[in-house]
Amino acid sequence: MVMSTASMRAEAGDVVLELRGVSKSFGPVQALRDGELVLRAGSIHALMGENGAGKSTIVKIIAGLYQRDSGEFVLGGETVHFRSTADSKQSGIAVIYQEPTLFPDLSVTENIFMGRHLLKSFGRIDRAAMRGHVRRLFQRLGVDIDPDRPAEGLSIADQQIIEIAKAISLEARILIMDEPTAALSEVEASRLFAVARSLRDEGRAILFISHRFDEVYDLCDTITVMRDGAYISTDRIEATTVAGIVRKMVGRDVDSLYPKQTVPIGDVVLKVEKLTSTGQFHDISFEVRAGEIVGLAGLVGAGRSEVARAIFGIDSYESGTVTLEGRVVPRLNTVAAMQLGIALVPEDRRQQGIVLPFGLARNSTLAIKSSLARFGFITNRSENRSAADWLARLSVKANALDTSTATLSGGNQQKVVLAKWLATNPTLLIVDEPTRGIDVGTKADVHALLSKLAGEGLAIIMISSELPEVLGMADRILVMREGHMTADIPRSEATAETVMFSATHERRSAV
Ligand SMILES: Nc1ncnc2c1ncn2[C@@H]1O[C@H](COP(=O)(O)OP(=O)(O)OP(=O)(O)O)[C@@H](O)[C@H]1O
Ligand SMILES: [Mg+2]
Repeated sequence: MVMSTASMRAEAGDVVLELRGVSKSFGPVQALRDGELVLRAGSIHALMGENGAGKSTIVKIIAGLYQRDSGEFVLGGETVHFRSTADSKQSGIAVIYQEPTLFPDLSVTENIFMGRHLLKSFGRIDRAAMRGHVRRLFQRLGVDIDPDRPAEGLSIADQQIIEIAKAISLEARILIMDEPTAALSEVEASRLFAVARSLRDEGRAILFISHRFDEVYDLCDTITVMRDGAYISTDRIEATTVAGIVRKMVGRDVDSLYPKQTVPIGDVVLKVEKLTSTGQFHDISFEVRAGEIVGLAGLVGAGRSEVARAIFGIDSYESGTVTLEGRVVPRLNTVAAMQLGIALVPEDRRQQGIVLPFGLARNSTLAIKSSLARFGFITNRSENRSAADWLARLSVKANALDTSTATLSGGNQQKVVLAKWLATNPTLLIVDEPTRGIDVGTKADVHALLSKLAGEGLAIIMISSELPEVLGMADRILVMREGHMTADIPRSEATAETVMFSATHERRSAV
């Protein structure tokens, strides 16, 4: 037995956490067959793999949320068996989970201090000190969120930032981040990276999970790849290439990421005129034609999702009109919007996209259910078939169609939302961050699919914070900044510079 050295300070390079041959099954699903991971002090370690490869399962085992079925888990030289997340916290492990886990009724500060309080003498809770602590954390992360507001109604990016602040405030020796940047803009992500680097320099160990290669190569020194629940390799980052990592993840070469086809552009499908909603967006006008993919770029918070929600009738607006194929789309009426042929794949899949407790087949047919029912053949058979078609086209990894969506991996949940809306056969498809959290292989599939759908005459609005995606996929890029449309850039003139310029500057007066 190893000596009890768990509390000793680790020197940079020392192994602080080790998993060997760890397995985990959920009933018939083997999520993890052979998990291996060695984390060292003073290192930022990447963990990559396709959707459903078992990354989050490893995270939850380390966190004590799941218990391993077999294998070794050694922490600071000692074998551990965590029974709960309290155990892992106590051992100096902080975890940012893939899906935010905030309590909507509690304030931002209460969420960050969940389960611990700063006490004044005589045991009274020191709210001012807690608030001050949160303000300093937010300052470090460069964000402006009111510590007293309730968590309810926060954007998904802000929720993620609060999860990050919560984890950092634990001052843990080991910090685990499961796709922390999926909802963040580049500016927010780069602030997070600065914090991560300073924690690394203090000798902490960081595990970083992401599907974005630019981030991994920018931030991490070591990389572990998993496939189908099993460990594949661990390398120093300098010894690897993107193509090599992709091959290990997917088990094959992946074709070009942005397979944009040139297709004939048809008639105007969507016309938005002078749309205004005070405090959200102002005087927004644009058109989208059949076969056209229009990118909607801008920083997080620029008002892009708000415009999409207004078009689809989720939120109201004060003035302006929306017409689809010449017919007026009424305000605040999503049923009418759907009947006219609009589909919206929202950015926050958990709140708006899927009804989690339902099974898979049910979720992806929820949106067409009314149209199937109208023709009187809503049987389980037809439900399963149309769902199965789309789920297969998007290669959703699930053991059975009646799998509950709540237990799907994050990326696979995202694909279910897409499947659900594609099955409605829309004329205009609005996708908000369509490939967030989706692995490289499937990302290429989603892009190929969007390209193909445009080729079939679908009009597409693609909101994306990932510049390469917008540049690669869009025929035209509309840029928003602080609720205003600042540019309309044709594909031939679109570059990272022209788009970023418009995203951060006011529209240049006509020249
Ligand atoms: N609680 C659970 N019950 C049943 N199956 C589960 C559960 N948790 C995970 N799984 C399954 O285990 C597999 C691995 O999932 P995991 O969430 O670890 O993947 P991941 O690598 O994090 O993927 P992603 O990149 O999409 O987040 C998936 O097939 C998933 O459906
Ligand atoms: Mg995951």
